[in-house]
Amino acid sequence: MAKLPTLETTHSGVSVSQLREHSKALISEIADMRDAAEEGYSNDRCSINLPYDKKIAKETAVLAKRHKGVDAIVVVGIGGSNLGTMAVQEAVLGKYHNMTGTGPKIFYSDTVDTYAMKDLLRILTGLRKAGKTIVVNGVSKSGGTTETTANFEILTEFLRKTDRRADEHIVVTSDEGSPFWKLAEKRGYHTLAIPKKVGGRYSVMSAVGQYPLRAIGVDVDQLLKGAADMRKACLGGDVAKNPAAQRAALLHHHYLHGKNIADMFLFCPDLESVGRWYRQLMGESIGKEWDSRHKMRVSCGMTPTVSIGSTDLHSMAQLYLGGPVDKFTTFVTLDEKSSVGAGGVSVPRDKEYEALVPHIQGRKLSELMDAIYRGVSIAYEKNGRPYCHVGLHGKDEYQIGALLQMHMMEMMYLGRLLGVNPFDQPAVEAYKVETKRILEKTFH
Ligand code: PA5
Repeated sequence: MAKLPTLETTHSGVSVSQLREHSKALISEIADMRDAAEEGYSNDRCSINLPYDKKIAKETAVLAKRHKGVDAIVVVGIGGSNLGTMAVQEAVLGKYHNMTGTGPKIFYSDTVDTYAMKDLLRILTGLRKAGKTIVVNGVSKSGGTTETTANFEILTEFLRKTDRRADEHIVVTSDEGSPFWKLAEKRGYHTLAIPKKVGGRYSVMSAVGQYPLRAIGVDVDQLLKGAADMRKACLGGDVAKNPAAQRAALLHHHYLHGKNIADMFLFCPDLESVGRWYRQLMGESIGKEWDSRHKMRVSCGMTPTVSIGSTDLHSMAQLYLGGPVDKFTTFVTLDEKSSVGAGGVSVPRDKEYEALVPHIQGRKLSELMDAIYRGVSIAYEKNGRPYCHVGLHGKDEYQIGALLQMHMMEMMYLGRLLGVNPFDQPAVEAYKVETKRILEKTFH
């Protein structure tokens, strides 16, 4: 049986009795979470049921199979509509996936940017000229996001001009009945529904992530299996053994004690987008002006930051180790065996280099990374900087599915501890409304 990622909290700066205190407040949320696990999609927490949804798995697998053999897929979506897909793709297939020649390429179109769009259209034109097939997957929960609509319109127009079978190669993922959904139906595009109560940042295990990931060859069934196994662990009543609840308790403790920055420090560059996905998850879920009953202004939130080991040690370590003690860090590492995999990469044994840096010749890169991580964690301890450690047994689908599921449930627990609603995002909506108002006023 596959092993779930581990959570190590020895240096978290929170004692067993303090953890027990926070745990009391979680008892009712764990009970509510267990109820939600039985309630399909009627509960705000219902994204926890996605890993078990056979209908979505089948629907996305059938469509991905139909698109088997396509050469590229463009995901048009922003925020919760593309960050999860990007996180899983980069983690599992690597940041260089498009250059490795394994499976269809994947491109993302999120913000509106002339330069990025021109470059993307240039790439896609080259692919079409070479006879390659492209799928455009528009993803928007609301079905009315300015950036997504603009980019989708541009990209599908391109496809329709260059591909006689374009409509067969356009997929819309949205809330059933949204304006986007209706347009797709009218034009005869493929449609995939997002369960109504599943919000963008909790939607990676829905068709939002499942379809594009299957289409590029990610083993989504293993991703879901990892998520399902982690869900079981995160429904456990003993907080000390429930990783999501335990992490929520640690974060809550530090928030109450003035550490309102949560740094996710990932010791593997391919995990950077997992950090960016988490940044949205935390930022939108607990960054709230009002409490969950909308009675009290709380202006609550922790600022999530993302650091990459060892890259950011060469720019941020001074601040992290010498600056204010205002952060709680989560180190994420891959265990050495899994990252070595079949072979691993070693430094050559060139004696002349010993004068530059001794003791690295002939050693595996994973050994060096491990030494760096151990050095960093000791420095954090010596400098009184609290941290916890998440250990991944590789970066395959199972591990990443489990990791993302843990964080989604952690945020639900943390929302409860902080007394805010982790499922809405009124401030994001506010900017969207204002943007539309400006565009309306200046339209000619
Ligand atoms: O979490 C959220 O709700 C937002 O960040 C959305 O994901 C983002 O604004 C995109 O919205 P939509 O999927 O409706 O296009």
